[in-house]
Amino acid sequence: MSSAAVQYARQNHTRFLDELKALLRIPSISTLPENKDDCRKAAETLRNELTRIGMENARLIESEGHPLVYADWLHAAGKPTVLIYGHYDVQPSDPLDEWLAPPFEPVERDGNLYARGAADDKGQVVAQIKALESLMAANGKLPINVRVLFEGEEEVGGETIANYVASKPADLKADFALVSDTELFAPGLPTLCVGLRGMIYTELEVRGAKTDLHSGMYGGAAPNPFVSLCQIIARLKDENEHILIPGFYDDVVPPSPEELAAWRSLPFDEEEYRKKEVGSRQLVGEPGLSVLERTWARPTLDVHGMPGGFTGAGAKTVIPAKAMAKVSMRLVPNMTPARAFELYQSYVQKIAPAGVDVEVRLIHAGDACIVAVNNRYIQAATHALHEVWGKDTVFIRSGGSIPIVGDFDRHLGLPSVMMGFGLPDDNIHAPNEKFNLKNFELGIESVIRFLEEVGS
Ligand code: BES
Ligand code: MN
Ligand code: MN
Repeated sequence: MSSAAVQYARQNHTRFLDELKALLRIPSISTLPENKDDCRKAAETLRNELTRIGMENARLIESEGHPLVYADWLHAAGKPTVLIYGHYDVQPSDPLDEWLAPPFEPVERDGNLYARGAADDKGQVVAQIKALESLMAANGKLPINVRVLFEGEEEVGGETIANYVASKPADLKADFALVSDTELFAPGLPTLCVGLRGMIYTELEVRGAKTDLHSGMYGGAAPNPFVSLCQIIARLKDENEHILIPGFYDDVVPPSPEELAAWRSLPFDEEEYRKKEVGSRQLVGEPGLSVLERTWARPTLDVHGMPGGFTGAGAKTVIPAKAMAKVSMRLVPNMTPARAFELYQSYVQKIAPAGVDVEVRLIHAGDACIVAVNNRYIQAATHALHEVWGKDTVFIRSGGSIPIVGDFDRHLGLPSVMMGFGLPDDNIHAPNEKFNLKNFELGIESVIRFLEEVGS
């Protein structure tokens, strides 16, 4: 199992880690306009790295948004072609005061590397690149044909890559995709993700008076858009977390009895999950369904924030003219984002309180996906993972979304192998995000052995 490439990776581990740290120092937050240049810088860094390790045609693919990074190496005649995917953009780092070290100054602590983007997804992108570098350096060639496509808008809906993939460029001709943007079910347990939720992300805006008003002079006569907004939100789901939008569940396909049985045999302790991962007094959710079922196979609705009005220190007696809420829904396989949005929008208009105008805006949308497991690529992946981790692979779904995976299937006919190396407690999207150093190391080895296995 110790191929020459694996040995090269082990010998170069310290340098690999340094190069990951360099990428983590670039604050490529895709949603903030002030970080636009940083996103480009991260893309250029990756392009330069791909060129340096011997990939060809490395270039940025430009768009209105953040650039895609492409490279290929297509000299393994008669062998399959993989499309390797990951994202270089990261989530915002607030709340800053909860970080033990600044988010863009990576530090090692207790076998982990802490920084925004460490696990999601720069650590995994660098693991993929380092696997390619090791294969190339040890053998002077790659075991299969490789195309690489990294995006910088995954955390904001992935519009650029979606358009690019939908245009079916010859550049993306491949046999399967390798997606490293997911996690292991538990430490040391090799995992392939076979399903993701989709989502619609929306804004609700409620307008009352034509301008902000003194709440003493006008309270009792002028509508309060925040109260109206809360009344709307309160009617979106009931106390059992059941979404009240008529027709919302019509297209939901439940997991098969086999899949449910497999989930029941996963090492999952609900009480530990509540305490260690969630940290709330109690878990919520639809009665009668397990946590895994609720988070992997049921649609959900969440409110992310309510900007507007007076939120400063102290008190201001105002009736705001408008109020806003960021609301998203996670969708499951067979639901369509367009239909979900339509049902939501017409329901919100129907329940809107008198005296205010409500606008419902779609920010971004992405499909859920289920990937097939009866193909040689998944088989090769489980072989490789067994060699590296010494255990049988578990198949899981994830509650998160990676919109492009469904598009790979729909537009390019590619089955995806979602082989990721994060851990459930990596704090992705949260303060003190980390990536386990052992997972970085074994992630590189897993990708090396996987590509070797597909090519053998
Ligand atoms: N890597 C995550 C998705 C993920 C998280 C997969 C955990 C498996 C386990 C990805 O970067 C992500 O956060 N996606 C967003 C997508 C959205 C903005 C369209 C998400 O799920 O919120
Ligand atoms: Mn990600
Ligand atoms: Mn993410």
